[in-house]
Amino acid sequence: MAGVLAANTKTPSPDPELGIEADEYDDNDSALGNLQSSTTSISSSDRLDLQHHFFTLTFDGKLFICNVDKGEKQVYRVLDAGCGTGIWAIDFADEHPDAEVPGIDLSPIQPAFIPPNATFVVDDLEQEWAFSNKFDFIYMRMLSASILDFPAMFKNSFENLNPGGYIELADKCLPMLSDDGSLLPTSALQQWSDFTIEGTSEVGRSITAASEYKKQPEEASFINVVETGTNGRQTPGQKIQRLWTYENLAPGLEGFSLGLFTRVKGWKKVRNDMNDRKIHAYLPIYVASGQKPPEEP
Ligand SMILES: C[S@@+](CC[C@H](N)C(=O)[O-])C[C@H]1O[C@@H](n2cnc3c(N)ncnc32)[C@H](O)[C@@H]1O
Repeated sequence: MAGVLAANTKTPSPDPELGIEADEYDDNDSALGNLQSSTTSISSSDRLDLQHHFFTLTFDGKLFICNVDKGEKQVYRVLDAGCGTGIWAIDFADEHPDAEVPGIDLSPIQPAFIPPNATFVVDDLEQEWAFSNKFDFIYMRMLSASILDFPAMFKNSFENLNPGGYIELADKCLPMLSDDGSLLPTSALQQWSDFTIEGTSEVGRSITAASEYKKQPEEASFINVVETGTNGRQTPGQKIQRLWTYENLAPGLEGFSLGLFTRVKGWKKVRNDMNDRKIHAYLPIYVASGQKPPEEP
């Protein structure tokens, strides 16, 4: 990670808090990264862990923003809903050794070596919630485009919290922005962004779900709902926001765009074209063979 951040050496004055360069627009900077780093491939688990690191950098090392552990009430049970690799739950469990921290996810991608107060369960958040005990804190991060029915999720969260308990959500939200107008409406990146918004909303798992994160919890009877974060603006380390966006999107771009663009947005057109005999399209076939050198007589 340090290597990734240290790679950007153009700006002279370092940000003392984040340990990265101060912001400066530079025409030689690409919006999100460069071709060289786009060839770097990281697994989706690594991507989630890297994303966790960017989150904590953005929020001054904090794992959450709300006041859940500020009052007299002890935080005993904490749910990391859609925990991914479980990195947030693990860090929370380490920081709060008295709390029980279950994490649930559809995928068993969590490590085996975990703090004694963290546990991981494979479960579906979109099915009925059947926890035997209620929680003091429910944390959900980067679940937009995953969840079909956020209002139901907020209702379930409400019902599964102890009185006075907190929910906190953290997410990225499209459309992409540029404060200096360098992201042109005609750019491919903008079109990708628009297309992704359209496609995810057509399947009901909107990538813009975070824009409702104030309204929907209020509708589910939560009180003191506060919207914070960076609200679209870039945080003190502007480059880190771009680096984050790039490192988060680039490695997974093909994976999450292909299905969406073919099955959801373009599927019918593609299939119609395939059935159209006036279109003489084909896929080239490559045949390759090789021979092991024969033995010398
Ligand atoms: C982008 S990842 C975020 C992971 C983690 N919250 C983090 O911030 O590192 C979204 C996670 O949600 C999980 N997920 C999606 N739909 C889910 C569901 N219905 N029930 C449980 N987990 C779900 C996925 O398996 C994935 O691990």
